Amino acid sequence: MAEIGKDIGKARQLLEQSELVSIPTETVYGLAGNALDVRAVTRIFKVKNRPAFDPMIVHTYNLEEVQSFIRNIPRQAYLLARSFWPGPLTLLLPKKQNIPDIVTAGLTHVAVRVPDHPLTLDLLQRLDFPVAAPSANPFGYISPTTAKHVNDQLGDKIPYILDGGPCRVGIESTIIGFEGDFPVIYRLGGTSREEIEKVLGKVKVQPQAGSDPKAPGMLKSHYAPRKEIIIGNLEKLAGKYDPEHTAILSFKTGFTERERQVILSEKGDLDEAAQNFFSALRYLDTIPGKTILAEYVPDKGLGKAINDRLRRAAAK
Ligand code: TXA
Ligand code: MG
Repeated sequence: MAEIGKDIGKARQLLEQSELVSIPTETVYGLAGNALDVRAVTRIFKVKNRPAFDPMIVHTYNLEEVQSFIRNIPRQAYLLARSFWPGPLTLLLPKKQNIPDIVTAGLTHVAVRVPDHPLTLDLLQRLDFPVAAPSANPFGYISPTTAKHVNDQLGDKIPYILDGGPCRVGIESTIIGFEGDFPVIYRLGGTSREEIEKVLGKVKVQPQAGSDPKAPGMLKSHYAPRKEIIIGNLEKLAGKYDPEHTAILSFKTGFTERERQVILSEKGDLDEAAQNFFSALRYLDTIPGKTILAEYVPDKGLGKAINDRLRRAAAK
């Protein structure tokens, strides 16, 4: 198993030696390696069992640092960075040569963000390079929101997990790029469309759904637990399934005994629901039974990002 701790010096040393370290962010835990070092990035792909066509997000500590590996920042991207960094927003920007092609899977643009977590910001400031960091889960499985989640799945493959406690936002960053001058959201996430539109005006939302993602790796089936997930009206569904073999994921109402159900937010708060979402899926996936019954949350704010994850988790 990996060592778990809060030792930034140790994390730094490992990263400087092309090793991988799991880092906390406000969204989910990342699996970090030196983004300028092909050996480290290759390791990330291997440890996650991630296909080479799926590019990675590069993380650094402020907008100024971004200029060291980005050719230029369009005005709208700049406005977003000023408004939301550090925070759960990733920008697709034209990369400089120093970002190896393996990081972007050959694309001309690199995904960049400044995560909002004190431990990780401190670490990033002490490094001479940005880090590439996908979510620290095996490819296609549920994203980790605690150090224990990371250890359970990747603990035998990495030396160190920097423990920053449970993630505050709980779902991944929103990814936004530009088609000409027009902003396009490619992945819904921790910064809501509504917040972004307050800064830029109208934006297009175009989550990629194919099996061969042109740009963001938004595969139809992702975040998937081992159990089958059925989404619908829980009151109707619950009557049709044997309660002994069924787990329930609900937004705010109880339908069955405590051990077999997770309520995402009893007070109906979408931020709280996002925070609990991935650990709820993980828990329900570990209890006996074959099926998880789930319902959509209200489709606004972070609810849209939660519903997107739920849909992909249920897809086969
Ligand atoms: O919140 C987050 O974004 C977390 C934390 C660790 O920062 N990271 C994360 O990374 O979710 P990952 O690799 O699990 O998801 C990143 C997504 C992938 O779907 C990938 O295809 C897309 O971003 N992506 C990365 N680089 C891209 C690029 N150059 N162009 C288009 N899409 C890109
Ligand atoms: Mg991921």
